[in-house]
Amino acid sequence: MCGIVGYIGKQNAVPILIEGLKRLEYRGYDSAGIAVITENKAIIEKKKGKVSVLEKFVKGSGIEANIGIAHTRWATHGEPNEINAHPHFNADKSIMLIHNGIIENYAPLRKKLISEGYKFLSETDTEVLVHLIDKFYTKKKNLFEAVRNALLLINGTYGIAVISIYEPDKIIVARKGSPLVIGVGREENYIASDVNALITHTSSIVYLEDGEMAIVTKDNFEAKTLEDDKVEKEVVEIDIEVDEITKSGYPHFMLKEIMEQPESIRNSMRGRILMDEGVSKLGGLNGFEERIVDSERILIVACGTSWHAGLVGEYMLEQFTGIPVEVDYGSEFRYRNPIITPDDTTIFISQSGETADTLAALREAKRRQALTVGICNVVGSTIARESDTGIYIHAGPEIGVASTKAFTAQLTVLALLTVLIARSKNLSCQDGQMILKELESIPYKVEKILKLNDEIEKIAEQFKDAKNFLYLGRGYNFPVALEGALKLKEISYIHAEGYPAAEMKHGPIALIDENMPTVFIAPQDSVYEKVISNIEEVKSRKGVVIAVASEKDTKIEKLVNYTIKIPDTIRMLMPILTSIPLQLLAYHIAVKKGLNVDQPRNLAKSVTVE
Ligand code: M6R
Repeated sequence: MCGIVGYIGKQNAVPILIEGLKRLEYRGYDSAGIAVITENKAIIEKKKGKVSVLEKFVKGSGIEANIGIAHTRWATHGEPNEINAHPHFNADKSIMLIHNGIIENYAPLRKKLISEGYKFLSETDTEVLVHLIDKFYTKKKNLFEAVRNALLLINGTYGIAVISIYEPDKIIVARKGSPLVIGVGREENYIASDVNALITHTSSIVYLEDGEMAIVTKDNFEAKTLEDDKVEKEVVEIDIEVDEITKSGYPHFMLKEIMEQPESIRNSMRGRILMDEGVSKLGGLNGFEERIVDSERILIVACGTSWHAGLVGEYMLEQFTGIPVEVDYGSEFRYRNPIITPDDTTIFISQSGETADTLAALREAKRRQALTVGICNVVGSTIARESDTGIYIHAGPEIGVASTKAFTAQLTVLALLTVLIARSKNLSCQDGQMILKELESIPYKVEKILKLNDEIEKIAEQFKDAKNFLYLGRGYNFPVALEGALKLKEISYIHAEGYPAAEMKHGPIALIDENMPTVFIAPQDSVYEKVISNIEEVKSRKGVVIAVASEKDTKIEKLVNYTIKIPDTIRMLMPILTSIPLQLLAYHIAVKKGLNVDQPRNLAKSVTVE
């Protein structure tokens, strides 16, 4: 949730740390801080608010140093203020620490440390760790050992970086449950919670695994386990262009990412279609295809938008493969003693590949010997690495907190997976070809939908003051209704609910009046007439209706207040198209309300805590 960055080398660490924090700000943004060591003295600055507040301050201060760590926070324990912001430090400011994650046993540790005379300044869970390190340092006079011994007492999750004025030639890092990478440079090294912070400096990355630590110096890094055993780490070359993580002229990352969808969808299917055979080829699944095809059941686990993609996946897989599919929230799956057998395939969908609940569910499924398949966007992420096998969606970095292009890429990959399995079952080559041809045409149809941007912006103008919204859809478009409602609420703070359209009469219809806008996802598919009846029910109660409809539909606009007409496709692919106007609607409403769409309040891009 929070972002970590660190530098050791010949350059001035301060601008490198600030730039890194700005690239990580999408992960957490309520306060930020920096700690550097210069001439054996520590300088620590923390500010409430965005990284820009800290940046303004340090720019004017002329601080220079060759080693430093910095943090952008998303509060878990203690309100966002300067005291609770990281880095945290011991009494004489000789040891400084930044932390992502949650220390679950902080309360008893804090009590014990207080009884031993330690004074706490903040309300955070993190501060116990820096005092514990101080305690062990007093005994051991070795920073690595002090950090290691402190971590042995910790329950919970962490990605940490520690520096000390007593050993100013190193950064100690450790990871358990929160990502941490080392960026390898020449006579300089970096650390970060996310490679995005480092890509302007190096493409050579070392991924730490859970239970690993490292001593990072200017010229070297040495990885060890928490048990002090040496580990050989591979340096991986990553391939991310800088313009992939900048706004490239767009006012917001979210709009840029919405507009990128023709390309991101193309990328997610590139090289994966064997048209002659009417089948898809997913290299990541090599050697596991048979086991997937022979599964008794498929369980899909995810959170948020990825869970909505999973619901669409359920419709696709059940329709075409005949394998029973269940979809669960990561948070529910991990605690409800789910029935999982070695004959099941479990699929974990996650843009970030770091979502704590999805990851815990993956580990549970592995424990029970089911096959685990990760569908992730972030290459090298924990879920991608810990799954038995997997498929990258290749949507490119998604920075806006509201997920957009990752969703449509997830649906694309789920469609490819469906074809792959179905072709080993009953799907004919001809039908496989028909689906794949339609899939290939989707990016062009998305381009057409994106041309409706101005039209959708005008509709948004009418609804920026709405207090509630209802989103209704059926079949494949029921998950799209959920996703449309989620997009709106998370960036505009307007209360919105998604429902299967037919469920309206079982309760939500009571909410309908002239002040309740309802968005109907109503393409001309097999349930179209039924959805039209639902629209009539809303209209007869003076409800205001926005319909996402097929471009050839001439009937619907006579019935509803606003129509957004989009191209048609086959049912299983329709959610890729219908979700896009809803992304644009949410985006424009939020912008018109003057809100920060890329960094909505209380949210973080990657939820690495429970
Ligand atoms: O990285 P993940 O896909 O695992 O994230 C899951 C959710 O946290 C995420 O989709 C969240 O709901 C987004 N803010 C939705 O826009």
